[in-house]
Amino acid sequence: MKEQLAKIRSEALAAFASAPDSAALDALRVQYLGKKGELTGVLKMMGKLSAEERPAMGQLANEVRAALETAIEETSAKLAEAALEQQLKDEAVDVTIPGTEVKMGHKHPMYIALDEIKDIFVGMGFTVLDGPEVELAEYNFDRLNAEEGHPSRDWSDTFYFDEDSRVMLRSQTSPMQVRAMDTMELPIRIVAPGRVYRKDEVDATHSPMFHQVEGMVIDKGVTMADLKGTLNTVVEQLYGAGTKTRFRPHHFPFTEPSCEMDVQCHKCGGVGCPTCKGEGWIELLGAGMIHPKVLQMAGINTEIYSGWAFGIGLERTAMRRFKIADLRLIFENDIRFLEQF
Ligand code: DAH
Repeated sequence: MKEQLAKIRSEALAAFASAPDSAALDALRVQYLGKKGELTGVLKMMGKLSAEERPAMGQLANEVRAALETAIEETSAKLAEAALEQQLKDEAVDVTIPGTEVKMGHKHPMYIALDEIKDIFVGMGFTVLDGPEVELAEYNFDRLNAEEGHPSRDWSDTFYFDEDSRVMLRSQTSPMQVRAMDTMELPIRIVAPGRVYRKDEVDATHSPMFHQVEGMVIDKGVTMADLKGTLNTVVEQLYGAGTKTRFRPHHFPFTEPSCEMDVQCHKCGGVGCPTCKGEGWIELLGAGMIHPKVLQMAGINTEIYSGWAFGIGLERTAMRRFKIADLRLIFENDIRFLEQF
């Protein structure tokens, strides 16, 4: 029996030492120390020993058991440590490996033009406003002095949501003038860019959805000279110093007097060419002094305050800025086109 115990001890210790992982070690624990294990098997035979032999053999068996248990504990700790190290190695991130390049998009040409416009106006102390595209006819027309029966209110021009023509897709950004007057303290300096909608057929210069930027100033003693001075400054910043403008009389229901502003053709310098259709000038925006009725409807005292406003087409501005010939290119989102800017 003594030899048997010694054999178990040396065999078990050797086996433990070469266990590849903790699962294997656990299997060995069962093999040697489990209920049906080899050591247990020997211990079961203790009964057959004489009373003199039993204590010494019992002590030896306990020693073997203790030795095996200690060995298992030590090996188990070593294996756990090795496993952790392996895991750390496996999961290590090499921060020096160059990353996979992500294909970045970039700003759409129209938004490049918009950002330029915004920067210019913000630099002059204007606030940029955002407003709803689903608008009340009250703001889009009534409060802008375009009464019932005004041609722009026609169903053939405007997208309405209801039979009574009260709710619509805004046909201009001008309702933002009214929203600003209703909510902001005077004096007011705002620009309001956004989408507008009209029942237009798609062609090289038309789309049922396009963008405008509205601008408005209301303060004491504001005159047409301020309007011209501001817009001339903006045009020089957009198209270069010395760019000439021309103001022509026009009519809008919400301004009096009203005008359209043309910019001298960048292609021919005013002589006349295909780009400006022989005119020498290109129409850029509508503007004017805010009609006293519009100010009064917002509760503004026209004895003290006056203001000007303008509305500029953003697609046209971008097309001129980047020499884009067809409006449809702006909305088609063809990467071959967009990548050029
Ligand atoms: N809302 C006008 C349009 O869509 C443009 C416009 C003209 C806006 C004169 C203005 C303005 O603020 O004063 O044609």
